[in-house]
Amino acid sequence: MFTTQLRKAKIEANCLPSDLFAAICELKQELNAVILAHYYQEPDIQDIADYIGDSLGLSQQAAATDADVIVFAGVHFMAETAKIINPNKLVLLPDLDAGCSLADSCPPEEFAAFKTSHPNHLVVSYINCSAAIKAMSDIICTSSNSVRIVNQIPENQPIIFAPDKNLGRYVMEQTGRDLVLWQGTCIVHETFSEKKIVQLKIEHPEAEIIAHPECEPTVLRHADYIGSTTALLKYCQQSSALQFIVATEPGIIHQMEKQAPQKQFIPAPAMNNCACNECPHMRLNTLEKLYLAMKNRQPEIILPQDIRVAALKPIQRMLEMSLEPVTA
Ligand code: 13P
Ligand code: SF4
Repeated sequence: MFTTQLRKAKIEANCLPSDLFAAICELKQELNAVILAHYYQEPDIQDIADYIGDSLGLSQQAAATDADVIVFAGVHFMAETAKIINPNKLVLLPDLDAGCSLADSCPPEEFAAFKTSHPNHLVVSYINCSAAIKAMSDIICTSSNSVRIVNQIPENQPIIFAPDKNLGRYVMEQTGRDLVLWQGTCIVHETFSEKKIVQLKIEHPEAEIIAHPECEPTVLRHADYIGSTTALLKYCQQSSALQFIVATEPGIIHQMEKQAPQKQFIPAPAMNNCACNECPHMRLNTLEKLYLAMKNRQPEIILPQDIRVAALKPIQRMLEMSLEPVTA
């Protein structure tokens, strides 16, 4: 854990404690709080978190915790999911503007009309959506259980899959099912350049290409392994390869390097010469904002009761179905 010059300057300017890590640990005791962080968060946040995981792991942790306060270092839909599961707990998000382009690509009114135009369809929604979309869904899934969940639905049942068309297409391939797809995408995962990835592979012929299923099919077709962030992390540990080209948000490379320091992880480049492969929403959270959120007990996630209750059912269904054996 290190404190950069920039961080020091910010700390002095805002009268923040000089040892943010110690101050956060103290507040954690005082509030009986748990810090849950996604792999795409900045390294310092990952290092101070009680639990780091993918969307499924984080939801399972939120469902299991006996802490009074959940500090969610992730994006809005993730903290919202924790609040839906824990209506009586205080759920803090360090920056309330930490949204998600994928969740934004599915506005509730348009989705309601889409649903009406497909009667008799079961709605399976990727967890990267708003509480209002969850409230209109039958089952929620994440990138790590989407195939498993669709495989548990009777074959004659038509299904709408929303909002990510790339994950949806991947699930169609893996299950052989015909899904009606909402046409949403993630600004980060659609940005990877097939051309630059192929070029990297030529430069590093021994490297394995690993990719998140939110990537475009032009990228997925080159992947040696496709999986959720947790699955990618496990794969890197187990594979005998020593180099990996990583086609997901590069925040995860911090954990990859910690877990396999002898291996090399090369972030897949974006199409333009920009840092567009970094999620601008995830990066809004900082250690300073996390500290301030705990100190001020805000910003907190608040949800209308009717939406919360309706959104809970499909999340619970997901948590149950993640445990059930797959029969199909
Ligand atoms: P995971 O399900 O792997 O956590 O993915 C979350 C996400 O936002 C990917 O962009
Ligand atoms: Fe949303 Fe994409 Fe960021 Fe994940 S990486 S939180 S899907 S914008």
